[in-house]
Amino acid sequence: MAAHPIQALGEAVGSVGVDPRAYQLSSLFQEANDGPARTAAKITGVQGPGKRDDDSTYFTSNEGIPFPDPAHSKTVGGVPVVSDIHLLQKQQHFNRSKNLERMVHPCGSGAFGYFETTKDVTAHCKADFLKSVGLRTPVSTRFSTVTLGRECPDLARNPRGFAIKFYTGEGNYDIVGLNFPIFFCRDPIQGPDVIRSQYRNPQDFLLDHNSLFDLLANTPEGNHAGMMFFSDHGTPQGWRHNHGYGCHTFKWANRDGEFVYIKYHFLANHGQKQFTANEAMRLSGEDPDYSKRDLWRAIEKGEEITWTAHVQIMQPSEADPDKLGFDPFDVTKVWPKSEFPLHEFGKLVLNRNPENFHIDVEQAAFSPGSMVPGIEDSPDPLLQFRTFFYRDAQLHRIGVNWHQIPGEIHILCKDVILIFRRVNCPFMASSCASLNFDGQIRADANHAGNPQYAPNSFGNKFRPDTAEVPYQLADSIMSRKSHFWHEGSPTEYEQSRALYEKVMNVEAREHLHFNTASALKKVDYPVIQVKYLAQLLRIPYQYAKAVYNLLPEKSFGFEEVEEKSKGAEKIGKEEKFCPSAQTDKLVGKCPAAKVYNA
Ligand code: HEM
Repeated sequence: MAAHPIQALGEAVGSVGVDPRAYQLSSLFQEANDGPARTAAKITGVQGPGKRDDDSTYFTSNEGIPFPDPAHSKTVGGVPVVSDIHLLQKQQHFNRSKNLERMVHPCGSGAFGYFETTKDVTAHCKADFLKSVGLRTPVSTRFSTVTLGRECPDLARNPRGFAIKFYTGEGNYDIVGLNFPIFFCRDPIQGPDVIRSQYRNPQDFLLDHNSLFDLLANTPEGNHAGMMFFSDHGTPQGWRHNHGYGCHTFKWANRDGEFVYIKYHFLANHGQKQFTANEAMRLSGEDPDYSKRDLWRAIEKGEEITWTAHVQIMQPSEADPDKLGFDPFDVTKVWPKSEFPLHEFGKLVLNRNPENFHIDVEQAAFSPGSMVPGIEDSPDPLLQFRTFFYRDAQLHRIGVNWHQIPGEIHILCKDVILIFRRVNCPFMASSCASLNFDGQIRADANHAGNPQYAPNSFGNKFRPDTAEVPYQLADSIMSRKSHFWHEGSPTEYEQSRALYEKVMNVEAREHLHFNTASALKKVDYPVIQVKYLAQLLRIPYQYAKAVYNLLPEKSFGFEEVEEKSKGAEKIGKEEKFCPSAQTDKLVGKCPAAKVYNA
C-alpha cells in the first residue's frame, strides 16, 4: 500500500524522522484526506484514486482520547450515564451531522474536472482563465433539481440546476445556471413566490398543484419556462444529458474597457436526452438516485463527461428592445440564435468524483455574484439581485467562513509550507488576501498581524484596473415603475409561441399536452384551471385546446377559457406600475462621455 499522501510528502521532503510527530500527522489529518490530499498524492505520484489508508493506531474521540469499545456504553447497573463522553459525543455529533439543506436546489450531486479555453476570445473578454487557447482551469460542478427536498427522486419533473465553479487565477468564477435557457419570473420580488408555489403547502406539507398553476395563471411571463417545465425538458435522462445555460445576460469586458453582452450555452457532447413522464415515474421508483448514480458511475468507469461552451454576443448599441423586438435583459426571454449565433469558446470536462459528498458537494457554495475581472453584471434585474442573495443564503446555511471550508491546512516540511485548500477556496488565485476576518470556526491565520483597516500606511494593494466597466441606464428615476418591455403586451407570448410551433415537433407537443393535463387535472379550483388555460391559449390556441380536451372532468366550457384569454397578458399587472414612458425599458449603453479619470 502506498504511503498516505501527507506522510509521503513528509518523506519526499525529508522531514520524517526529524520530528517524530510527523509520523502521527497523517492520521491526525483524517479530515484533510480529500481533494487537497489527493492533489498532493497526484503531485507526488504515490496514490491513485480510491480509499484512504487509515494508519491511525487506535480510534479516539474528537479530542484524541482513546475509545474503549464499540458496543458497550458506560453504565451503572446496566443503565447509561451522562459521564460517558464517548456515548454523548457520538450521539451529539450524529444529531448535528447535516447542514441545513439549500432552501432551493437541495437535491443534487457534482463532480470535478477542468475547463479548457478552445478559442481566442480576448478581443471581448479579459478574464484570466480565457487568456489563451489551451489553458486549463480546474472546475467543480453541481447538478440539481430545484424545488424538491434533498432526498427526493432526482428524476422528478423539475428544471435542473447547472452550476460550475471555475478556480481561476483571479479568483473563483461561478456560473449558476439551469438546463432551461429561461426562468419563471423576471422581477426579484417574485422569486420566493415562484419557489414557494412549487413547494409543499405549509399547512399539510403536501405538494400543492393549486399553487403551482395559480402562480402561472397570474404570471403571463412565467409560461415560457412553464412550458419547458411540462415538456420532456422537465424529465431529462440524469444530469449528463442536459445542455446548461447561464440564462441571464452578462457583460464580457476586454482590456481596453470595451464590453459586449453575452449569454452562455453549454452543449452536452453526449447529446440532450429526456425521459417521458411515465419512464421518469417508473425509474424514480426503482432508483430515486438515478441521476446522481448515473454521473457517478460514468466517471468511476473512466468516462469523461463533456460540454462545448458557447456564447451569443450582442453589441451594447444593439441591446435595445425597441430595435430588437424583444427584451435582451428579460430572463424569461431568449436571444434568437438566427440573429445571435453561437460562438464556441471552450470545453467543460468532468473526470473526477468527489471524495466525500458532504465536504465536496453539500458544502459547495455557488453564487452568481462571484464574477472575475472581465465578466460583469448586466441591467437584468433578477441577475442584479441574485448576485447578492446567494451568499446571504450561504451565510445562513454554512456560516460566515463558507470560503474556508474545510479550512486551510498548513504543513511545514523543512522550510516549505504546503497549503491545501478545498471546494470553496480560491486555490488557483494568484493572491488571496481578503480584508475580512473573525467569525465562527475561523481556521486560517485570521488576518494575522496585518492592519485591520484600509486604507493604511503599510499596505494598499488595490486593483483599480479591475473596476467594473460603466454602463448607462435608460433613466435615473427611483420608483416601482416597471422597466420590462413586454409587460402587459401581447409580445409576451411571442417566444413561447415560437418554441411551441417552430421548435417542438409533433411528438414533443403531444408529450407536453399529456404532461400538462396530467398535472392540471389535480387542481381543485376551476377558477385556476380556466385562468391557466387562458394563458396557454395565448401561446397558441391549440395548446390550450389540446390540454382542455385531455382533462377527464371539467366544470367549465372552453368558451370561458376563450373569454378569459382576452387581456391575459395584463393579468397580475397593476396598471399604475406598467411601463408607459419611452424610458421605461432596460438598456445598458456605453456612456456618451468617459466615466473614470485617466
Ligand atoms: C428569484 C428567483 C430565485 C430564487 C429566489 C433562487 C433562490 C436560490 C437559493 C436560495 C439557492 C440556494 C443557495 C445555497 O444555499 O447555496 C439557489 C440555488 C440555485 N439556484 Fe436559484 N434562485 C432563483 C433563480 C434562479 C435562476 C434564474 C437560476 C438560473 C439561472 C437559478 C439557479 C440556481 C442553481 C443552479 C442553484 C444551485 C446551486 C448549487 O448547486 O449549489 N436560480 N437558488
